[in-house]
Amino acid sequence: MTDMITKALVQTRVVPLVQANDPDVAVKIAAALIEGGLTVLEVVLRTQEALECLEAIVEKFPDAHVGAGTVLSGDHANEVIARGAKFIVSPGLDEASVKIAQNHNLPIFPGIATPSELQKAWNLSLRTVKLFPASIVGGPKMLKAMASVFRDVQFMPTGGVSAVNLLDYLEIPAVAACGGSWLTPQNAIDKGDFAVITKLAREAVAIAKK
Ligand code: 3PG
Repeated sequence: MTDMITKALVQTRVVPLVQANDPDVAVKIAAALIEGGLTVLEVVLRTQEALECLEAIVEKFPDAHVGAGTVLSGDHANEVIARGAKFIVSPGLDEASVKIAQNHNLPIFPGIATPSELQKAWNLSLRTVKLFPASIVGGPKMLKAMASVFRDVQFMPTGGVSAVNLLDYLEIPAVAACGGSWLTPQNAIDKGDFAVITKLAREAVAIAKK
């Protein structure tokens, strides 16, 4: 599973966040992203209905790589695994979630913001981490500094990434992919304008190809 996700990440290089409070809407968001060429999706646990949204997307798009984000605890990790998440993302480094994911042979990308956190993740055998919040903790400069020391680590910068700075991150060799919510703007979702999401996804795919 880890290899499959890593391969998919390196291919699409962009991981959009999906946040919804209705599984039908979540499926529409996912459909729009997939139509735009993004097939690795992170459904975030930030609404009451997030687990139902995750499950609905997993069922509807069995060929997509659907993971769960904002996983804060071991309980969350168990819940998202039960709903079919194929990978886990956390804002920070939670050892319980890491152990559970590893026991299930599921990739987990915990957030790190300092060398000490990264070293802790490295000692938990993790080799791909999320840099979060990337733009605030130093952006591409910080990433290059970390990568120069942790030579075998791949990063998924998230937080403040958009079409404007995506390439600045993606052109760093240690960056596997970037994550972000800019691809799924809430105002478009509220209006039911899912074509906007497909357009943003296509734009990101084109930038990633550069
Ligand atoms: C995350 O959960 O990874 C962040 O909230 C994403 O940050 P962004 O909204 O700035 O893309």
